[in-house]
Parts: sequence; C-alpha cells; structure tokens
Amino acid sequence: MNGPVPMADPAAEYRLLKAEIDAAVSRVLASGRYVLGPEGEALEREIAAYVGAAHAVGCNSGTDALHLPLVAIGVGPGDEVVVPAFTFFATAEAVSYTGATPVFADIDPASFNLSLASLERTVTARTRAVIVVHLFGQCAAMDEISAFCASRSLVLLEDCAQALGAQYQNRRAGGWGEFGCFSFYPTKNLAAAGDAGMITTRNSDHEKTLRMLRHHGSRQTYLHERVGWNSRLDELQAAVLRVKLRHLEEFNSARRRVAQRYRDKLKGVQLPAEDARGRHVYHQFTIRSGRRDAIREALGRDGIAASIFYPIPLHRQPAYQSANLASNRDVALPASEAAAKTVLSLPINPLLDDASVDRVCARVQAALA
Ligand SMILES: Cc1ncc(COP(=O)(O)O)c(C=O)c1O
Repeated sequence: MNGPVPMADPAAEYRLLKAEIDAAVSRVLASGRYVLGPEGEALEREIAAYVGAAHAVGCNSGTDALHLPLVAIGVGPGDEVVVPAFTFFATAEAVSYTGATPVFADIDPASFNLSLASLERTVTARTRAVIVVHLFGQCAAMDEISAFCASRSLVLLEDCAQALGAQYQNRRAGGWGEFGCFSFYPTKNLAAAGDAGMITTRNSDHEKTLRMLRHHGSRQTYLHERVGWNSRLDELQAAVLRVKLRHLEEFNSARRRVAQRYRDKLKGVQLPAEDARGRHVYHQFTIRSGRRDAIREALGRDGIAASIFYPIPLHRQPAYQSANLASNRDVALPASEAAAKTVLSLPINPLLDDASVDRVCARVQAALA
C-alpha cells in the first residue's frame, strides 16, 4: 500500500532541519525577547541582501506585506490599483483594505502572469499602482512591465509571495518594483511555523514609514503619528526563517529537479512554460488539461493530493460582484477564465522523492489512457 503524497510537506522540512530549528527556537525562548528584537532585525538584513534590496521590513503576513506599502504611498478611496485576475484573493484584498478599487487585468496564458497588453488596456486616469504577481514561482515580464509603469508614473509592487529566489534577467523577485511583498506562510518556499511576511524596498523613506505603520503608527514609544496596525514579525518566526533561509538555494534547486522529472515523464498534458529570461523556483508545478478533473480524481483515489490554484478568477468572485463593482460582471478576461477551468497543480516540495514523482506521473498517464 502506497502512502499519501501531500502537496507540500512542512513537517518533513522540520524533521530534516530539526536540530538547527530546535536550537534557534530555544535560543529565542531563553532570551525573553519575543517581539521586535535581534532575530527579526537579522532576518531583515539577510532577506534584503538576498533579494538585492536596500531595506526589508518584517510584518505579520504576506497580505500585510501588500497592504502596508499601499498605505505608505497614500493609496485610498477613488484610486485604482491594477492586479491580475488570476492570483490568490489576498492580492486584491490588500487593495480593498485601503478603500481603493482593485481593477482586474488578464494574464499571459503561457506564464500565468500579468499580460502587458491587458495592463495597458486597464490603466485609467485613476490608476495609482500596479501589483504584479510572480505566480507559481516564476517572474512576470519585469523589464516590459516596469518600463510601462515608469512611463505612466505608476507605482509598481511585486507580489512575491510564491517567488522568493526566482530571478528575471539575473535580478531577484522583489528587486524590481518600488516594493517586494513576501509571504512566509508555512507552505511557501521559505516557510515559517505560522504567519509571517516581509516587504523589501530600495527607498529609505518608505522603509521608515513601513516600520511606523506596522507598529501602531509609532516611531517613538507612546507617540503615535498616525493610526497604524499591529503587524510585527515575531522573534520565534524570524529565528525559524533564518535557519531555513540558509537552505533556500538548495531547496529551490531541489524543486527545480522535481519539476524536471515531471517534465521528462508527463505526456499528453500541457506543461508549465519556463521563461528563458528568468529562473523559475516552482512554488507550484501547474499543468493544464481539459481533463484535469478526471486526473485529480484518479490521483485522489491513490492518496495523491492535487490542487486547483485558482478555480475562480478574482473578477468572478462574489466579493467583487457587489453594486459598486458591477462592472466586473461585464468584464471578460478570457485567459484567466480559461486557466481557472484547466489548471491542476501537482505535489511539489524540496523533499519529494523520485518514487513519489514517478507514482504521480504514472497515475496521470493512467487517467488519460
Ligand atoms: C500570490 C499570493 N499573494 C498573497 C498571499 C498572502 O500571503 P499570506 O497568506 O502570508 O497573507 C499569498 C499566500 O497565501 C499568495 O499566494
């Protein structure tokens, strides 16, 4: 009897790094310093250096890592922010928190990332910012998109929740835009043991504002310049993340090896396209097939997980169909809608062994036979 094959396996990562993680956690517990301390500061320096950004500011989640920069640049009611329709809900939710309107653009069907042509059509006089998402671990066409945003004076934010370590033209995700927004949710390529996030920026004024916003609008104890949030990255999470960051390159290479094995063995489905201008870090390995539901069912019968990221594009979500967003009902974003109907993400994680990958491939092929 074969055991289950999960999508991600955070506990296996812990088992592999147990000695290092336990030592780091004990160090923090013994220190008595649990929120805003040396671990968080060290992690900020390490992530900034890794990404190639001047500054990094820790926060509570990837969602906050998108929200706080929008607040920092003054996005609010009456403004529009363009986001791709094919992404996790939080990308648009962060815009809605500010009172601004998320306006949905379509994707390039090959990369699943924001389409420049659709972005050009979606921008209006009210557009303040664009959030580009490096979906599934592959960067969007950052040279073209950042040149366009610069030409229109639009602030570019990168949603790097799925793409720490991905590159485009030898620059890492998070090093292109005004802000890089990262999630360390437990299934991400760099994964905390809980919620955590980080923002990178090259601008020291932004950095100062973000530090204030994440800490109740305060720079000086009990002096509050504005209303902010409690969105701090705690020391235990930072310590765990620092251990795992030392293994990130090796883990991302392992993900790429799993992806290559899938490529070699899968036939009769559309494989994810790799953009030669960058380095894909395979947060997900996402195939496309008109028979994806049958494939998913067959995998499920054998204890193999497979997920649909994402079944409903954001312009079709009930939350974005309300009266003041009625125009979303009339919007057609064909590439996002087609992707939602055909995508299927197969298990991928750095510790997935060859035998499991082969078993997944054999099941996929049997389902298609
Ligand atoms: C593309 C994308 N954006 C934003 C987020 C939000 O991150 P978090 O769950 O840490 O709030 C996630 C992940 O969950 C994501 O995948």
